[in-house]
Amino acid sequence: MKIVSVVGARPQFIMAAPVSREIRQHHEEILVHTGQHYDENMSDVFFEILDIARPNYNLGVGSASHGRQTADMMRGLEEVLEKENPNFLLVYGDTNSTLAGALVAAKMGIPLGHVEAGLRSFNRQMPEEVNRVVADHLSNLLFAPTETAVDNLTREGITRGVHMVGDVMYDVALQSAQAARSRDILSRLGLTRGEYLLVTLHRPQNVDDKETLSAIVEALVHAGRPVVFPVHPRTRKNLIAFDLYDRLQAKVKAIEPVDYLDFIALLMGSSKVVTDSGGVQKEAYFFGVPCVTLRDETEWIETLEDGWNALVGTETDEILDAIEKFNPEGTKSKSFGDGHAAEKIGRILDKFV
Ligand code: UD1
Ligand code: UDP
Repeated sequence: MKIVSVVGARPQFIMAAPVSREIRQHHEEILVHTGQHYDENMSDVFFEILDIARPNYNLGVGSASHGRQTADMMRGLEEVLEKENPNFLLVYGDTNSTLAGALVAAKMGIPLGHVEAGLRSFNRQMPEEVNRVVADHLSNLLFAPTETAVDNLTREGITRGVHMVGDVMYDVALQSAQAARSRDILSRLGLTRGEYLLVTLHRPQNVDDKETLSAIVEALVHAGRPVVFPVHPRTRKNLIAFDLYDRLQAKVKAIEPVDYLDFIALLMGSSKVVTDSGGVQKEAYFFGVPCVTLRDETEWIETLEDGWNALVGTETDEILDAIEKFNPEGTKSKSFGDGHAAEKIGRILDKFV
């Protein structure tokens, strides 16, 4: 088959890495980068570090409002699909690039596959929730990472084409752990293993509102231990606009986003993670690092069930309390697959007619 894969944002490059390798064993893959993320450290580094094929097309849409960004992607994608005439289109995750790919494929009658199908936060205020629901309802093949995701789809009446394959991000994490261990980022940043917090933040509800972001910054500056914080560009822009950047930097190692291997190295060396990222909550679970999540709900409820993830919201005191006291113990029993999710996706695509 000729398969068009659509990616555009940081977590999608990571997810696409093992799947693209599998697809290319038996199919022709045309990789389309929408250009949603474009800074070198949000895009190019992932292609290099994870050895992903160069995109055949970059639509170069850049940043804009949801409507404009999605529309620009749809226009660009339609042109590519008219020219390439693929048999199948694959989208990943829940970004605007996912939504654009799903809508254009459906309108053009091209069979659609969704990697990371069935995730739900049950919060439609999140742009990602809207994107996931639409992508799932338009997909012919739905690659679910967990049993919870399969159950969510069943509840919405989606049972055909659903395959529980496991989480491709778990595949990548397992494949990358050894290379990450040989990174020297801890010594370069003067960090001691087991004695610092790793922070990431980028959800609009946390970083676009001055009061909320201020409350989080207050917690980080009072954490009473070293904190390393690779700052997402959305967050950096708002820290500067809200005049919070200097206060943060006085106490926290606020650094540029790092590449995937450096990130996994920082994660494995940290005593705790503080985040609002979906992917990072899971990676903390994979590597047995306690996770403090600055949200009120999560799509990844498996990380909560064994007590390795604490949902604490965004109040300064609640965050500080969790930084101080949250101390999960015991096993991690929840499954994100067997590390071969991408292979399973490849074999299912081989059989698709
Ligand atoms: C997007 C996804 C989100 C995902 C996240 C991963 C949507 C609606 N959101 O959020 O689901 O979790 O990616 O990181 O699709 N910017 C830069 N350089 C870049 C990219 C972004 O400076 O390379 C800045 C711009 O100011 C931009 C802002 O970040 O306006 C937000 O970027 P955007 O892609 O719209 O959303 P994210 O917050 O990155
Ligand atoms: N990540 C990275 N460098 C960083 C921060 C995160 O490589 O500086 C990786 C991290 O390992 C995770 C992914 O980016 O797999 C998560 O992306 P993000 O938090 O931007 O998006 P989300 O998972 O919330 O959609």
